[in-house]
Amino acid sequence: MAILEAKKLTKIFGDDPKKAIPLLEKGWSKDKILKESKLTVGVNQAEFSIESGQIFVIMGLSGSGKSTLVRLLNRLIEPTTGQLLFNGSDVLRMNPEQLRQYRRKHIGMVFQKFALFPHRTVIQNIEYGLEIQGIEKKKRREMAMESLKLVGLSGYEDSYPHQLSGGMQQRVGLARGLANDPEILLMDEAFSALDPLIRKDMQDELLELQTKMKKTIVFITHDLDEALRIGDQIALMKDGSIVQIGTPEEILMQPANKYVERFVEDVDLSKVLTASHAMEKAETITIDRGPRVALQFMRDRGVSSLYVVDRSMTLLGLVSAEDAAAALKDSKGLEDVMQKEVPITSPDSLLNELFEMMGNAKLPVAVIDDTGRLRGVVIKGAVLAALAGNGNSLLDGGDSE
Ligand SMILES: Nc1ncnc2c1ncn2[C@@H]1O[C@H](COP(=O)(O)OP(=O)(O)OP(=O)(O)O)[C@@H](O)[C@H]1O
Ligand SMILES: [Mg+2]
Repeated sequence: MAILEAKKLTKIFGDDPKKAIPLLEKGWSKDKILKESKLTVGVNQAEFSIESGQIFVIMGLSGSGKSTLVRLLNRLIEPTTGQLLFNGSDVLRMNPEQLRQYRRKHIGMVFQKFALFPHRTVIQNIEYGLEIQGIEKKKRREMAMESLKLVGLSGYEDSYPHQLSGGMQQRVGLARGLANDPEILLMDEAFSALDPLIRKDMQDELLELQTKMKKTIVFITHDLDEALRIGDQIALMKDGSIVQIGTPEEILMQPANKYVERFVEDVDLSKVLTASHAMEKAETITIDRGPRVALQFMRDRGVSSLYVVDRSMTLLGLVSAEDAAAALKDSKGLEDVMQKEVPITSPDSLLNELFEMMGNAKLPVAVIDDTGRLRGVVIKGAVLAALAGNGNSLLDGGDSE
């Protein structure tokens, strides 16, 4: 079920903001509305639904409305019109007390400029929100220590922010956002101030944390690579409107319009596409068949080798036409002649890794999922086609999720 759902969620800045609503409904652009009415469109009729446990990335250029949108979610900015549902209940109708509970118990927030208090220690910084909520001292210290542990900073509780590196300060910011154990974590450009290597580490850690804690994360970035790396869903914004929502693959392979296309055209596909995008159906034979059947299959299917599997598709080896012919001659079974050393990879390994691996290998690479089952096979030509941006046909044919 959706944990957050927005319907025509809209924010207009300026005097008498509701005046702009009929203009938006007529389809006027942000520019035109500003010219004609002096009102600024922050967010234009946003519609989305975020499933519990997802990382929902909001991406877009500066001024496109990302921060406004995320602040509508906890009503730090009051929406002009529209609906916002949290677990089905209307956030915009909450009274002040309900709203306070919603923010305290269910939402955490992490900002770009860490916003740490310089004269408070690390642990005092993390406790800050809990203190405001009136949680008693011993309890809040416990919660803060737990949160500090989560971000890998145990031992630094009595340090001051200026004694920490940028990456560590950002972790403190993250620990503060997590301290009340919220279901939803809002992160506004949380990693943008970090240098690239630390940023990548933080992305990995966030993904790990996410796996462990199953938070719902709304993550803002203007960095496409970051969005593609961590997003389960990506919403791309332009001039206050969401122009497309989709998985990273959908955004890349099926851009909704020219704008999205231009946004993603410089992406290095080899760092985004995975084996599951380029793989094809593997021709197989079960181990209990004999070499004669193997040769017949090869003839019928026009291939010169078959993957040998058991009945649950666990990969056991590869048998070539020569192997099968030799087995037939010597009255042996497939298991006696098949090659057991077969190059394999996982469905989510990146094509650039595969590309290196396949450089001078003669055999295609078998794609094995984490239960050991054969999912498909990647041949060199398909990798090249995918990297050339010729991926739509592959996506349609493959069984990527
Ligand atoms: N308090 C405000 N008063 C008036 N206009 C505002 C206010 N806050 C934001 N806006 C306007 O709303 C639009 C969206 O701004 P927002 O800060 O949400 O963009 P953003 O996508 O977060 O940009 P950035 O990447 O630079 O952080 C902009 O046109 C901005 O000028
Ligand atoms: Mg912003």
